[in-house]
Amino acid sequence: MEKKIILTGDRPTGKLHIGHYVGSLRQRVELQNTGEFEKVFIMIADAQALTDHFDNPQMVRDNIEQVALDYLAIGLDPAKSTFLIQSQIPELTELTFYYMNLVTVSRLQRNPTVKAEIKQRGFETNIPVGFFTYPISQAADITAFQATTVPVGEDQEPMLEQTREIVRKFNEIYAPALTEPNILLPTNKACLRLPGTDGKAKMSKSIGNCIYLSDSADEIRQKVMSMYTDPEHLQVSDPGHIEGNTVFTYLDAFSLPEHFERYLPDYANLDELKDHYKRGGLGDVKVKRFLNEVMQETLEPIRTRRQQYENDPAAIFEMLKKGSELARESAAQTLDRVKEAMKINYFG
Ligand code: TRP
Repeated sequence: MEKKIILTGDRPTGKLHIGHYVGSLRQRVELQNTGEFEKVFIMIADAQALTDHFDNPQMVRDNIEQVALDYLAIGLDPAKSTFLIQSQIPELTELTFYYMNLVTVSRLQRNPTVKAEIKQRGFETNIPVGFFTYPISQAADITAFQATTVPVGEDQEPMLEQTREIVRKFNEIYAPALTEPNILLPTNKACLRLPGTDGKAKMSKSIGNCIYLSDSADEIRQKVMSMYTDPEHLQVSDPGHIEGNTVFTYLDAFSLPEHFERYLPDYANLDELKDHYKRGGLGDVKVKRFLNEVMQETLEPIRTRRQQYENDPAAIFEMLKKGSELARESAAQTLDRVKEAMKINYFG
């Protein structure tokens, strides 16, 4: 049977929030703990973060530690997973340079995630080349480790598509040196694109509609109690809407049957709660209080574990150094195979 290898990661541009958690982080921990994977690589993509934050290196540097803390807090375990910092693996840059030959400018222009990001950042008339080509660098990240499985959020689907194209092209033109990866998305629809607490499409640091994994119990409660619900549900007796109602979307993503037993025993499950809300007679405050209990129970152990690691930044950097060194060995093996396939292995 083929060896299964995971590679995934995040840009260190801020603390991780619950959108990251249900979109990918929670699944990574589960996958790590199945023991089905020969290797699990978790990358902090600082070089990619610099493609659109090149003028703010201190921010990127500071967030490396924050993201590593979030990883440890959710239960990614350095005994089972290798944590690495992208910029510390120079082989990735070399691979990127060779893959650039296999990708056209028009193909990059068609990448929907890149398109959206160019708009968001106001890059339309002035796209930095480094930013424009980051999907190619991401293909290097994935293939350097011969990853078979890439658990990420839905917005990364175009990157995986481009990676697979590069792999097929490389293997066809040169020699079969690279592994074609598969994306792994969450199966729960509410988790694919968790809206912000204001009901807006996406959680975003700049809008300020995020619940962070490191938020205090008070911050969580305040954010939950002021969440966007159904604007037409004015009185408790009014029938309410579930679709587009952020409180219910969050319950879809986070609530478990045992939460009902513990905090809302009048209802057997989420369907019963939804039915009551739709009929009318169920107030938003009651639903929000329940969601608050669910969120507190979910995030409390994460916050506590984070605090344990926060006191020892030196240990975090030691872990990242060791992981980066180990990861570099894997990437170097792939680079050797790539150079051999491309006939640029002159000196043996
Ligand atoms: N693009 C990812 C993000 O924005 C980060 C990332 C960089 C990544 N390289 C990767 C994800 C390789 C998965 C695999 O969060």
